[in-house]
Amino acid sequence: MTVMVTGGAGYIGSHMVWELLDHNEKVVVVDNLVTGFEWSVPSGVTFVKADIGDQSKMEALLSEHNVDAIIHFAGSVVVPESLEDPLKYYRNNTGNSRNLIEAAINTGVKRFIFSSTAAVYGEPLTTGPIAENAILNPMSPYGTSKLMTELMIRDASAAHDLHYVILRYFNVAGCDLEGRTGQSTAGATHLIKVACEAAAGKRPMMKVFGTDYDTEDGSCIRDFIHVNDLVNAHYVALNFLRNGGQKFTANCGYSRGYSVLDVIKAVKRVSGNDFRVVKTDRRAGDIPALTANSNRLRTRLEWEPKHDDLDLIVSSALEWEKKLLTIRKSA
Ligand code: UFG
Repeated sequence: MTVMVTGGAGYIGSHMVWELLDHNEKVVVVDNLVTGFEWSVPSGVTFVKADIGDQSKMEALLSEHNVDAIIHFAGSVVVPESLEDPLKYYRNNTGNSRNLIEAAINTGVKRFIFSSTAAVYGEPLTTGPIAENAILNPMSPYGTSKLMTELMIRDASAAHDLHYVILRYFNVAGCDLEGRTGQSTAGATHLIKVACEAAAGKRPMMKVFGTDYDTEDGSCIRDFIHVNDLVNAHYVALNFLRNGGQKFTANCGYSRGYSVLDVIKAVKRVSGNDFRVVKTDRRAGDIPALTANSNRLRTRLEWEPKHDDLDLIVSSALEWEKKLLTIRKSA
């Protein structure tokens, strides 16, 4: 049995590959390398440079490698970019996923784990951690493109022998605690990555987008989950499906939030670098506060997060920034 990881040369996908190897799984990585890096695929793992929208190629790969489960990460992930170029998101996240789902059905792959997002909820109508049965009202093409794929998976599963887990990520951050992989994305926009680049001297300063929100310190609040805990949730989900589970959708987060200013303070404290921070206007598409109610994942799949610690998330991200300097020099 082999697990196919799409987007396996990217940030979360490369951590997933290590999680699977740590559990002695056989893995095939498919990535088009638009944002991923071939060097992040561990030696010994089969790597195929391909686009998941290429259905005949995907069908050939699924059959050739005897794949029993697909963990699908490949896609575009930047909320503000999706507002400027929505059709890119509907192509990469929705259209290409449709072809992958059909490739799975046509080749008899019965297990599908999908990387979805908290952006499917839009702005919560209530305060506090949001549960899976909340209204789905995405406020960006990114969120809509992922919600459309959730719905395709649900409908395809009702009509075919396809079982699924949909995981809605909150703010994934940090890097592998053993230093084997990390977040290498060029031109990153995600908060902890940006702040760590500033701390590592790779940026002269960073901006805070909005300090006039209706929150305690005026900046946005997010639920940051360590990437090692996140990929472990996928491993737990894989076992659920292999043990006969048929359909499951759950939030991935720690159920507590930190503000943007809290995060910047943590990065300054852990790095010891008091880098320059400029407060600017709100960024389009940002939701004031978003935290996960993750009870469903904890109780139904018995997921137990191990790294719920902002300083640990930040220190792992800082370590990777240092490592990237040496990787890039030798690349
Ligand atoms: N932010 C800054 N300065 C920066 C970068 C970010 O102030 O340089 C702020 C943003 O305005 C926002 C917060 O930090 O308030 C978090 O922004 P990110 O870009 O890091 O992440 P988002 O919350 O926009 O989006 C992320 C993922 C999505 C996911 C979403 C769910 O990218 O995939 O979390 O909460 F859907």
